[in-house]
Amino acid sequence: MKVVSTERSQVLAARLAECLHVPIAPVKYTRFPDGEQYLEAGPLDDQMVILGSTTSDAAFVQLLLLLDACEGCDNTLILPYMGYARQDKKFKPGEPLSARAVGRALSTGVSSVITVNIHEPAIFEYFKGNPHNVCLSKEVALYISESGLNNPLVLAPDKGASRFAGEVAKKGGWDSDYLEKTRHSGESVTMEPKSMEVKGRDVVIVDDIISTGGTLVTATSMLYSQGARSIQAVCVHGVLIGGAYSRMRSAGIRNVSSSDTIESVTTRFSAVASLADVLKK
Ligand code: R5P
Repeated sequence: MKVVSTERSQVLAARLAECLHVPIAPVKYTRFPDGEQYLEAGPLDDQMVILGSTTSDAAFVQLLLLLDACEGCDNTLILPYMGYARQDKKFKPGEPLSARAVGRALSTGVSSVITVNIHEPAIFEYFKGNPHNVCLSKEVALYISESGLNNPLVLAPDKGASRFAGEVAKKGGWDSDYLEKTRHSGESVTMEPKSMEVKGRDVVIVDDIISTGGTLVTATSMLYSQGARSIQAVCVHGVLIGGAYSRMRSAGIRNVSSSDTIESVTTRFSAVASLADVLKK
């Protein structure tokens, strides 16, 4: 077995290879003069573990190329972060079901697919390979427990994230709750205040994805107005587009942390142990 990855998932791939005691296959990534991507991977092995977070269209194409380069091997695909997963329903005629399009394309020619905190598990029906989702609630709980907070309140910014936040809170023995969020556009959300006692509490907002930071900024302003003592944010996938990080810090979020499913300056904990456990099984 060998591990191979796209450009944006090299650190996680190297950690995983080390954890599994298997080699990592090198890849040269270049572009043709017209801008199209090209890569050369290998030497490969009969059994390949292929990692690639599809954080951008370019990363998506690169993963498709890498999967094609591994054709003929027994391939397990790890999608640490799956882009386009949030368009998982058709809301009006003529729209694509983007998660289906991406899921089908990426799972062609693989025997199994492993995701990490996939946005919506129903997406699995679009994967051709045998799918498995890893949840990082243990890693998030451990990270929070080492942050020195006093009896934190673990809060999900919407009902969709409440299960994940609840699992994190249960592992740490903390309280958990969620906010009622309404999304108006890609960048605008409003929240109905929920009757919860946040006065004087250290609040940790836990979500699967932070993208624009809009959800967290809205939640933060509401929570501080209700008397929260401090607010931190922990997510699995730190997409953090544009000025998301500074936007959140200037809103008073003291610390923003994420896992290495997307490698960034906010990466504080790793998905590697949970991914290795699934692969060993
Ligand atoms: C949405 O359902 C997700 O769980 C996140 O809450 C959302 O993607 C965060 O997006 P943003 O940071 O742009 O508000």
